[in-house]
Amino acid sequence: MSESMSRRRALSILIGAIVAAWSTAVAALSGLFISSTLKLGKTGKEVLLGDLTIYGDTFRAVRMRVRVDDGWYKHVEQQTVYIRADKENPSAPIVLSGTCSHLGCTVAWDESRGENGEFVCPCHGGRFGPTGKVLSGPPPSDLTRIPAELHGGDVYLRLS
Ligand code: FES
Repeated sequence: MSESMSRRRALSILIGAIVAAWSTAVAALSGLFISSTLKLGKTGKEVLLGDLTIYGDTFRAVRMRVRVDDGWYKHVEQQTVYIRADKENPSAPIVLSGTCSHLGCTVAWDESRGENGEFVCPCHGGRFGPTGKVLSGPPPSDLTRIPAELHGGDVYLRLS
């Protein structure tokens, strides 16, 4: 085999190896992305959030990547929901959107506020009670309650 053939073959193997490594990396990253994306935008979808005992009876924040398709523009955005067990109705956990109804900032749960804790918006001081009801500030409406059900101890969100 001539020296130029040998170089050509070596170059071809090197390029093949780079393409294979690149493809593997892209596939792995795609898999990670898809597996960490909860498709909340699809009508009728149920999203599994895991065993309710993980969350307990105080609100825990769950961050999700949500595919949004508004008919004009498709994108993925990060959203926060708050979840906890409901002592009065153990079969229906409480799940609230963490998005403030004023200008869309993410609220934070503060258990030390008020009698039973409050959600506080860091942007303009909006306050919400533990049911998501507006207590004070500029928010025009309550935090959105997201329908959730228990199946075999696991929490499922039902998204519209
Ligand atoms: S965005 Fe929450 S109070 Fe303004």
